[in-house]
Amino acid sequence: MRLWGLASACVAAILCSTASAAGTTTTYRDPDTGLVFAEYAIQYQIGRTLVFRVAVPTQVQSLTAYDAVLQVIAPIDAGWLGFAWGGRMIGDPLAVAWTNNGQSVVLSSRRATDHASVPGINTAAQYTILKAGTHVNRTHFQYTAHCTGCTYYSNSAGAKTWLYSTGTNHLAFAYSGTRPSNPSSNSSSLTIHDVTNNWDHDFSVGQNANFADLVAKNS
Ligand code: HEM
Repeated sequence: MRLWGLASACVAAILCSTASAAGTTTTYRDPDTGLVFAEYAIQYQIGRTLVFRVAVPTQVQSLTAYDAVLQVIAPIDAGWLGFAWGGRMIGDPLAVAWTNNGQSVVLSSRRATDHASVPGINTAAQYTILKAGTHVNRTHFQYTAHCTGCTYYSNSAGAKTWLYSTGTNHLAFAYSGTRPSNPSSNSSSLTIHDVTNNWDHDFSVGQNANFADLVAKNS
């Protein structure tokens, strides 16, 4: 029963997790927050693009936790949009966002333990919205969030996993055209995505020597 449901979700989608993700990370200097982001743009459907930007501090010590800022832009008709810091659904921090009836952005920190359930709230990764970089207009929504707990986490096997602050990380998104059932709540239930994909994101072009100051200024 469940497999039939998944199969029909894929048939209904224009693209079902098969698009190739050949692209490059570029530097984006954000006029709203002053942060420098490593930007990667990727299509979830022909002609429909998502933009993912990550800003990190300079001089991060190897194998330590560090904070990062995530900035995401999506077309307004996205039901919900997920970003997987570890490039997979299970065991890594997920940032899941949608609009509350097209008015404001709701961001939810989640973690999945399997492919059959809705990922639950993840208290190990905490996001703070940076208002200057968060808005909704007629065509798109954008959020900018400072995260503590996104770059160094325990995976599903309990092992510590680390994202390279000066190198390339394998990331993933999940896109759904269906809105959450209770959009004003960040713990809302979700239905399965229509598209997922991975890409390699080079954090070396999103370095910020004044990271802490810029986060504080924008918080
Ligand atoms: C109702 C919620 C969800 C359900 C039922 C669900 C279910 C599934 C299933 C069954 C697969 C395997 C598909 C395949 O192998 O063909 C999958 C893959 C995937 N899902 Fe979800 N998912 C949900 C939410 C999310 C969320 C919130 C994210 C956030 C980023 C996400 C990210 C991914 C990714 C990246 C994959 C690719 C393969 C993997 O890493 O496991 N999913 N999902």
